[in-house]
Amino acid sequence: MHSKDNQLDKISEYVKQKFSNETTGHDYFHLERVVKNANKIAIEEDANLFITMAAAWLHDIADHKLTTNPKKELNELLQFLKQLGLQHSQIEAIMMIIDTTSYSKGVIPTTIEGKIVQDADRLDALGAIGIARAFAYGGSKQRTIYEPTKSTGSTIHHFYEKLLLLQDSMHTNTGRMIAAERHQYIENFLNQFYKEWEGE
Ligand code: ADP
Ligand code: NI
Repeated sequence: MHSKDNQLDKISEYVKQKFSNETTGHDYFHLERVVKNANKIAIEEDANLFITMAAAWLHDIADHKLTTNPKKELNELLQFLKQLGLQHSQIEAIMMIIDTTSYSKGVIPTTIEGKIVQDADRLDALGAIGIARAFAYGGSKQRTIYEPTKSTGSTIHHFYEKLLLLQDSMHTNTGRMIAAERHQYIENFLNQFYKEWEGE
């Protein structure tokens, strides 16, 4: 017998070993936070907890920023999930979510579990954590903190190109409520940032 808790433990171990050396903000702790966000939303929204949790752990596994060979990652994952004893329908639901979560793809997942994982992932780009991740990612791409004379290219510009748009892209009510609070936190941060920038 494969208990669901045991399967989720095995899945988290699988990603832990793959993501341990990641420094661009997609590290293992990002996954832990997305899992926690997703769990909270799934309970409120009455979604399938197992599918939501499993997909939350695995959502970044084939991200092109993290692997040079997404197909190989997905194949390996497929074998792993089969070995773990997941049903065909469970594997299909999880693989579909992995395929649609990423912001850059611009795809809206069709299932409630997929919508929840996408919301949970986006919440981690907001609030204090979102700010920390943006500067960590920007630094890793040799971006400056801010370039007031340019209209794009710095990490502060990324706030307007993506982070401040996320609140309106949430699919679930629970996600929207958490996003509103974290969005306000970013607005406050930006106000303070410009004040300090001007030497006030
Ligand atoms: P997804 O994993 O949904 O495709 P990204 O990989 O674009 O999303 O974003 C992952 C994290 O990196 C987020 O916290 C995001 O804000 C940050 N990030 C992405 N692009 C930039 C950028 N150009 N400058 C600063 N941070 C970025
Ligand atoms: Ni993610």
